[in-house]
Amino acid sequence: MPKAIIDEIKTLCQEKNAIILAHNYQPTEIIVLADILGDSLQLSIEAARSEAEIIVFCGVRFMAETAAILNTKAKVLLPAETAGCPMADMITAEQLREYRRQHPDTVVVCYVNSTAEVKAESDICCTSSNAVKVLLSIPEDKRILFVPDQNLGRWAGRQAGREVELWNGYCPVHHWGFTSLQVKNLRKKYPEHRLLAHPECDEDIVDNADAVMSTSGMVAEAETHDKLIIATEKGLTDYLSKLHPEKSIIPLSPRAICRNMKKTTLHNVLDALRYEQHHITVEPEIAAGAKKSLQRMMELIS
Ligand code: 13P
Ligand code: SF4
Repeated sequence: MPKAIIDEIKTLCQEKNAIILAHNYQPTEIIVLADILGDSLQLSIEAARSEAEIIVFCGVRFMAETAAILNTKAKVLLPAETAGCPMADMITAEQLREYRRQHPDTVVVCYVNSTAEVKAESDICCTSSNAVKVLLSIPEDKRILFVPDQNLGRWAGRQAGREVELWNGYCPVHHWGFTSLQVKNLRKKYPEHRLLAHPECDEDIVDNADAVMSTSGMVAEAETHDKLIIATEKGLTDYLSKLHPEKSIIPLSPRAICRNMKKTTLHNVLDALRYEQHHITVEPEIAAGAKKSLQRMMELIS
């Protein structure tokens, strides 16, 4: 019974001084339950400033790891133990170390969708909502490598007017999930709709969008626009349609689903709180290195 489970989750949160953070792609029942909902940047900021003893992170592993790095006092729990991000695994710390041995003067910008080890080997982190700002902060005479997402790196480089060397990683959901034909067809069917694309999408999609933004940018955009086509993970469109039933909010593809984000359930959130599992920790030396890259990003936006 969802109501009984939700009540128990809420009681345990109170008893244990726990909060629930959820990413915008989480299943709707988790979004509704969460204390705080957001994109990667917002959730990192909230995790860093939280005074709760337990943070239940409804998202994927790199997000929970980031929370654990930024908040060493709280116990960070990931309800779905196997919820990973395939893009984060498209570069290893050893590969990046090897690159740095060969290119010691290049500044490495690392998308937060990466492991703590890779963040520790990078100079500065970024998220989809501040990648352009991060690139603009780098001295113009410096070469830049962007890891691991080629699509975000390419788009942000163009916006910033900077040449950026791209790692060849990508998000399978955004890179393969949308086609130019879908854009053409939906544009024809809904000529008055505004097409919003996440910067993880392939350049064919991003170049044909009306605006490119993070998931929380899309949440904000839905406050002021009535007709939207959304090119990102479908969970966000589901949530926005529920939030604004009077508006026309359509997914560019109903099949763009991140299976890892959907591994969180009410049951595993309850178990996370009951048994304080799965505790996400990062080795202190790696956490210290990753924190430096994250803090450089945080300083830029504060
Ligand atoms: P946002 O930071 O825009 O929410 O993106 C995170 C993500 O994983 C997108 O696939
Ligand atoms: Fe990773 Fe893509 Fe899922 Fe985001 S949508 S968590 S980038 S696999």
